[in-house]
Amino acid sequence: MNPLFANLQAYPFERLNTLLAGAESNPALPMIPLSLGEPKHAAAEFLLDQYANRESLTAALGTYPVTKGVPELRSAIAGFVSRRFGLQGVNPDTEVLPVNGTREALFAFAQVVLDPGKRSVTLMPNPFYQIYEGAAVLGGSTPYYVPCNESNRFSPDFSAIDEALWSQVSLVYLCTPGNPTGRVMSIEELTQLIELSDRHDFVIASDECYSEIWFDEPPVSILSACAAMGRHDFANCVAFNSLSKRSSLPGLRSGYVAGDARLIESFLLYRTYHGSAMPAHNQQLSASAWGDETHVEANRALYRQKFEAVLPILNNHFEVDWPDAGFYLWPRVDHVMRSAQPDEDFTLALLREQAVKVVPGSYLSRTGPDGTNPGYGRIRLALVAPVEECVAAAQRIATFAEAHL
Ligand SMILES: Cc1ncc(COP(=O)(O)O)c(C=O)c1O
Repeated sequence: MNPLFANLQAYPFERLNTLLAGAESNPALPMIPLSLGEPKHAAAEFLLDQYANRESLTAALGTYPVTKGVPELRSAIAGFVSRRFGLQGVNPDTEVLPVNGTREALFAFAQVVLDPGKRSVTLMPNPFYQIYEGAAVLGGSTPYYVPCNESNRFSPDFSAIDEALWSQVSLVYLCTPGNPTGRVMSIEELTQLIELSDRHDFVIASDECYSEIWFDEPPVSILSACAAMGRHDFANCVAFNSLSKRSSLPGLRSGYVAGDARLIESFLLYRTYHGSAMPAHNQQLSASAWGDETHVEANRALYRQKFEAVLPILNNHFEVDWPDAGFYLWPRVDHVMRSAQPDEDFTLALLREQAVKVVPGSYLSRTGPDGTNPGYGRIRLALVAPVEECVAAAQRIATFAEAHL
């Protein structure tokens, strides 16, 4: 057995199931799950219609798909990335690659970057999407958790990293907009990191899968920062994105990686061996989805409606504001639950008393180098359920807080 497996940690939802095993959700109320970040809005009809064409579906199912993606999909992705992030003609042949959702791609990409013969460090935000940690661990690299907390407005604080540590860094994962904080990194913050990458020669893998769920200003990409610096080859930088959140299609398993052609070329080689080509009918549908904005605007409007309705209810008892982007809220709850494990205890009691399921913040983060866990005392709420359910959940959370304050 590969000894590195021993270093993989239980996934947050496994830990949540263990915490809640044996706990009875209040039987008088229908349970409302705000735990999983799984988009629930209906898929656009014009996209679903594509599967109704039996002839093209039959043809697609009868062929091995190409790992590099069909030209229509590559052009659609390159067109989206160029339009949306203000770039000068991203090359569809060399600078984009379709992937089966960002999760597998973020994980597999570490294999392209990490040198098995060299000790290395992989930086990631804390709290984080746990796939970054698993990718580093199985790549034989040591994860280093960069704090994102109130004092740095939830943006990764790289200032505490000294020269000795930078010299060991091979890979940096970013998550912008952040899960669970909703924080969007500014072009200045991204530019500073790219300058550090020039000095210390590491690769930046920017997870941007929430970039299309925004409220005031569309988030920038790591690729926008490259372009602002005049680096149209995106050296050492790649962005990951997906149709899961943008088009509310988490079951399609469709995304892209875009950026540095040298890294994309190696990733394509890796994927050819790995056998992770996107099925041809999904490639066709994905090309249409990347090319349309109307359904994305409708999707965004639904999220806006939820935040507008939920925030005033929660604000009576919690300090919680609009995120920059994404569909999560990340409130402190340790003023309501004053115990040694406030986020776990809050989660457990909320399910028992009010039949609302959330995720304890400390399950989404680690105790970092400064000795603190930025998720401690917080919970994550995913506003993915229909608006009436989100409102009902917010009212129950408010009632719960009143009873415990
Ligand atoms: C931060 C982050 N990255 C990546 C993913 C994976 O999404 P997908 O594989 O559906 O693109 C998720 C899913 O919830 C996520 O929260």
